[in-house]
Amino acid sequence: MFVRRIGVIGTGYVGLTTGACLASLGHHVVCADVDADKVKRLSAGEVDILEPGLAELVAEGIAAGRLSFVLGASAAVDGAEVVFLCVPTPMGVGGVADLSIVESVLEEVGALLPPGCVVVNKSTVPVGSAQRTAELLDREDVAVVSNPEFLREGSAVHDFLNPDRIVVGCDQQDAAERVAALYARLGAPTVLTDAASAELVKYAANCFLAMKLSYVNAIAELCDRLGADISDVTEGVGYDKRIGQAFLQPGPGWGGSCLPKDTSAMLQLADAADYEFRLIRATIDTNNRQRQRMVEKVRLAVTGKRGGSLSKVRLGLLGLTFKAGTDDLRDSPALAVAALLRQAGAQLVAYDPAVRSGDTRIDEGITVVDDPYVAAEGVQAVVVLTEWPEFRTLDWAKLAAVVARPVVVDTRNLLDPDVVRRAGFEWNGLGRR
Ligand code: UGA
Repeated sequence: MFVRRIGVIGTGYVGLTTGACLASLGHHVVCADVDADKVKRLSAGEVDILEPGLAELVAEGIAAGRLSFVLGASAAVDGAEVVFLCVPTPMGVGGVADLSIVESVLEEVGALLPPGCVVVNKSTVPVGSAQRTAELLDREDVAVVSNPEFLREGSAVHDFLNPDRIVVGCDQQDAAERVAALYARLGAPTVLTDAASAELVKYAANCFLAMKLSYVNAIAELCDRLGADISDVTEGVGYDKRIGQAFLQPGPGWGGSCLPKDTSAMLQLADAADYEFRLIRATIDTNNRQRQRMVEKVRLAVTGKRGGSLSKVRLGLLGLTFKAGTDDLRDSPALAVAALLRQAGAQLVAYDPAVRSGDTRIDEGITVVDDPYVAAEGVQAVVVLTEWPEFRTLDWAKLAAVVARPVVVDTRNLLDPDVVRRAGFEWNGLGRR
């Protein structure tokens, strides 16, 4: 087998997943981070990211002697044949990806990279970044490759080990092939292309997903207005192989650390190329409206009329994270809807299985409790905002006994309406009869 010595810089969810999974494929991987405590914890096999299977892979890699953790990027590149850059590229001023962390890492390790080594950009970076990286490095003996990741939070290990495709972009064919060969065991279709195309694949894919969701949310709204049922409509639509069943679940809008950032970045990059990308603008606008629409749904359900007042109305929120299976609150639609409900004067009590009371990430205006039944006490409506499966199996009769009014607004169409109705609740979903 083709075994490489690999350095991974950054141990966030992309870096750690990449490092642990590459080690599980047989490679020798050294992961670097700037946080000394984190390096110590990871070296002891302690993973603080909620990512199924990751802690096990890290422990296995360490035990097999194929995975280690070091402080500082320099230590990871020593003797490396391939170096993965997996550092954050947050949304900067005007929605442009902020590359300052990538740049400072390059400055630190540029001169230390072994001759012949390949630098791989794994972070989502604007089109043209591989070229810019090569210019910053200014090393003729080091190739720069773009190799975007397509990992979803909450299933990153699964996605890494079962990829739909591997995309590798580089103007030097041999460097691209060396990177593609790292994944050979996974047997995925591989797209070898130039760096700019590989970089654009990432944005084009995430923007397409965002567009698909805004579209389905708009269709759900039409279902509400026309008396149609979104679950039947999406099922009927999704059987078309050209469309597919995945990513057709309506919700309170899409969020997280990727889709909002990448749709904004796409607008910027189109703008810079003198192209007005109206489709993406509409995708973002539809998403913003979706959050407001959820507030209107709550208004209608609680007061019985459009535009009714939510002032001093107590609401119990189920879910705060941006989706189920993660403790990530970044750009969470649940928090965005909560903020709008607060602005409308509502009093909010929330429960989320991944967020404890006293979590400092949550605005003071939301009271977080550690028990869903406590969150429902005395409320005028229970509002489901994140699709945690366990909400389906709550004791809805017990909830009915503690609420002030048995009303549910299910912004994820998560619950079984029959079960909830049998418990005495009025159930309000999205685009459902
Ligand atoms: C997304 C992409 O799905 C990954 O392929 C990509 O690698 C990743 O961004 C990235 O760029 O790193 P992620 O942000 O983890 O992954 O989240 P998704 O599972 O895509 O969900 C995004 C949002 O859409 C969430 O708010 C989720 O609740 C919502 N969603 C998703 C729906 O409302 N309905 C659906 O059917 C699916």
